[in-house]
Parts: sequence; structure tokens; C-alpha cells
Amino acid sequence: MKNKLGLIATLAFALVLALTIAGCVASQKVASKSGAQLWGENCQHCHNTPTPNSFSGDQWETIGMHMQTRALITEQERNKIVEFLQQSAAK
Ligand code: HEC
Repeated sequence: MKNKLGLIATLAFALVLALTIAGCVASQKVASKSGAQLWGENCQHCHNTPTPNSFSGDQWETIGMHMQTRALITEQERNKIVEFLQQSAAK
């Protein structure tokens, strides 16, 4: 009985560890992608990819918030995309 509990505790610990590592790898994957890359991958499913100079920096901020919910991307991904778009945004 005592051994069984020990085994369960060990398995539970291993599971938590595995999930933590998987989470880190997933966020590293996002971290290693540039805003330009994320923009190319996520923004053309529904319409042509808008060019950075189609909108001003402020407009990109708003559009980013709208399109985050549509494209089902994380806040981190959205921030990267918006940052990229703002670098070459219309003044
Ligand atoms: C799931 C579909 C979908 C995805 C993915 C998507 N969009 Fe959109 N987008 C739409 C729809 C629908 C509209 C038009 C209605 C609206 O403005 O909400 C739109 C409108 C826009 C507009 C406004 C165009 C205009 O002339 O006013 C911009 C800019 C835009 N999207 C940028 C983006 C960017 C940047 C991304 C990537 C982060 C993205 N979209 C991802 C569906 C999507």
C-alpha cells in the first residue's frame, strides 16, 4: 500500500515535470519566431496579408486586438506581429 502511494506520487511528479517542459518548449517555439514570420503564417488564412504600410501604428494596435481573437493567436504572438507591422507602418 505504501509503495503504491509512492509510485503514484512519483508518476504524478513525472507528469507535472513533463507538462512543464512541454510548456517551455512550446513557448520557446513562439519566442524563436519573428513577428514577420508569425504575420506571414497567421494573417492570410481569411484575407490577403495586409502590408505593414496599409495602416498607422495606432491602427495596427487596434487591428491586432481584433485579429488576435479571429486568428486564435496568443497575446505574445499578437505583440510580435503588431511590433513588426508598426516598424514599417504608415506615418
Ligand atoms: C479567422 C479569420 C481571420 C484571420 C486569421 C485574420 N483576420 Fe483579419 N479580418 C478578418 C475579417 C472577417 C475581417 C473583416 C471584418 C473585421 O474588420 O472585423 C478582417 C479585417 C482585417 C483588417 C481590416 C481591413 C480593413 O480594410 O479595414 C486588417 C488590417 C486585418 N484583418 C489584419 C489581420 C492581421 C494582421 C491578422 C493576423 C494577426 C489577421 N487579420 C488575421 C478575418 C481574419
